[in-house]
Amino acid sequence: MKIKQFKYSSDNFSYLVHNEKSALGIDCGAVDDILSYLTTSGLDLILLTNTHDHPDHTIGNSKILKKTSAQFLSFDELMAQSAINIDNEEIKVFHTPGHTNDSVIFHAGNTLITGDTLFNGTIGNCFSGDLKAFFNSISFILTFSPDTIIYAGHDYVDYSIKFAKIIDTDNKHFDSYLKKYNPAHVFSTLKDELKVNPYLRFNDKKMTEILKTKGLLIDTEYKRWESIMSLG
Ligand SMILES: [Fe+2]
Repeated sequence: MKIKQFKYSSDNFSYLVHNEKSALGIDCGAVDDILSYLTTSGLDLILLTNTHDHPDHTIGNSKILKKTSAQFLSFDELMAQSAINIDNEEIKVFHTPGHTNDSVIFHAGNTLITGDTLFNGTIGNCFSGDLKAFFNSISFILTFSPDTIIYAGHDYVDYSIKFAKIIDTDNKHFDSYLKKYNPAHVFSTLKDELKVNPYLRFNDKKMTEILKTKGLLIDTEYKRWESIMSLG
């Protein structure tokens, strides 16, 4: 299974997940780039879907559906089938509420396409208001292998690491994380996220110390998550 990333609207990402013949399109706002890639690669876009229903992610849907023979998969359809078949290989779909109630992530090979649930360096806003569900979704993501590649819904790396540096001023991992950052192809691994992304570090000793010095609650994993989420 291969994954091709396309940037649009300055920081949004579209993805094509494909095999030799067929492709699944996710958040296809990069309409023109995707259509020309399909032409040059000879790939057939058979399915189109979204990580969640925010307009910056669904903006390309109608144009792509008009120009290709792709079938659209709604959130309800994703939940009903839980896996998508592309040339006899499975892409798994998991419900990860938190950013929105309809947020999903896709697992293909050793890669997670995480939409606005998990970014490289930060996480999405909790627009659902359900902090507990968001915690469960992030905890679920952390059950994947540390080498799992994270392809997110936006490129917020610069801003995120600047913010993370305010919280954890002397974290020596920021420099190597930023060295690996390439705005033309943005991804990280779960292992690297655990070193720098404050919102994944609710079981990290140093983060617990930082929360303690700020007078925030640290006695349970969930309290630490709430404390980190209160930082901004
Ligand atoms: Fe969003």
